[in-house]
Amino acid sequence: MTCYEQAKQTLLDTPKTWLVTGVAGFIGSNLLETLLQLNQKVVGLDNFATGHQHNLDEVERLVTTDQWRNFSFIEGDIREPDTCKEVVKGVDYVLHQAALGSVPRSINDPATTNATNISGFLNMLVAARDEGVASFTYAASSSTYGDHPALPKVEENIGNPLSPYAVTKYVNELYADVFARTYGFKSIGLRYFNVFGKRQDPDGAYAAVIPKWTASAIKNEEIFINGDGETSRDFCFIENTVQMNILAATAPEDAKNEVYNVAVGDRTTLNTLFGAIKTALNENGVPVELEPTYRDFRAGDVRHSQADISKSVKRLGYAPEYRILEGIQKAMPWYIGFIGR
Ligand SMILES: NC(=O)c1ccc[n+]([C@@H]2O[C@H](COP(=O)([O-])OP(=O)(O)OC[C@H]3O[C@@H](n4cnc5c(N)ncnc54)[C@H](O)[C@@H]3O)[C@@H](O)[C@H]2O)c1
Repeated sequence: MTCYEQAKQTLLDTPKTWLVTGVAGFIGSNLLETLLQLNQKVVGLDNFATGHQHNLDEVERLVTTDQWRNFSFIEGDIREPDTCKEVVKGVDYVLHQAALGSVPRSINDPATTNATNISGFLNMLVAARDEGVASFTYAASSSTYGDHPALPKVEENIGNPLSPYAVTKYVNELYADVFARTYGFKSIGLRYFNVFGKRQDPDGAYAAVIPKWTASAIKNEEIFINGDGETSRDFCFIENTVQMNILAATAPEDAKNEVYNVAVGDRTTLNTLFGAIKTALNENGVPVELEPTYRDFRAGDVRHSQADISKSVKRLGYAPEYRILEGIQKAMPWYIGFIGR
């Protein structure tokens, strides 16, 4: 039995109460789906800044009626301390996902990103500490590696942040560490590397590359590559990310007050990614003839990103089940259905 299978079995045997913030978003709604399928009780918080009711509706369709009854949703904002206090009541495990993602959004509006990602984070940390929750796991980011040149990225070696978004995610880590030192409240930060999969929003100016290109390819719209296409990322399928959240939430005390990379350990260029999306759509019955249009590099982007996942493997028992091509194969039918809805 893998560590993940063991953790899931333990949860099935002794269900817990979870809080998922950002539950109507991409990662939050995927966490919700898995937790409900494991018969857990889940409290969800979201203000629909970037999340959608249709994500929650889809999860409702994918679980049983009894499982859905284990979910209670609160529409609210993590920038409100009282809301944070209310939602953590009686909760065992917190998975804090709510934040404003996207480097370009943070460059256009650093103040709103700061308020949500730093003040909102602090509100959640205070509320969780005061409630004495058993574990607090939060979405950190690979953007924290900033301008550090080394590859692959090892948790302890970070550079200077390259965007306001990266600053906010690094400040989360600093606060988490200070809460462990000053109050003995230990949490776990998960540095996500380019997560992708079903329910990742393809719409809007700040959409991530895989949903944006997939939607454009399906609609036969022009696809832009920022730079020469040799920029690379460690794309991580959502199921691996869900696994890491469950392993982190249930981790022993000595694995806490740490940050962990959440990735696969692969490096894929944008040019390769473009080809992979095209092939997967063709194999799923959507013929794509398009070629990409190259344009300038985008401000704030790091050139290469690839994770060393050995700490996650050793300390949390992480075993990623999907590499990029398998993840893209799994995600494409969902996008074809979603875009054609
Ligand atoms: N997707 C990735 O590749 C990636 C990479 C690194 C880090 N992250 C982090 O993972 C988390 C989840 O990201 P995602 O990709 O699911 O994005 P998402 O935008 O789909 O989800 C974020 C959710 O948080 C909610 N939210 C935003 N501000 C809020 C507020 N003030 N109060 C309550 N809810 C609020 C949004 O409405 C949304 O539902 C974020 O913290 C993000 O920074 C994501």
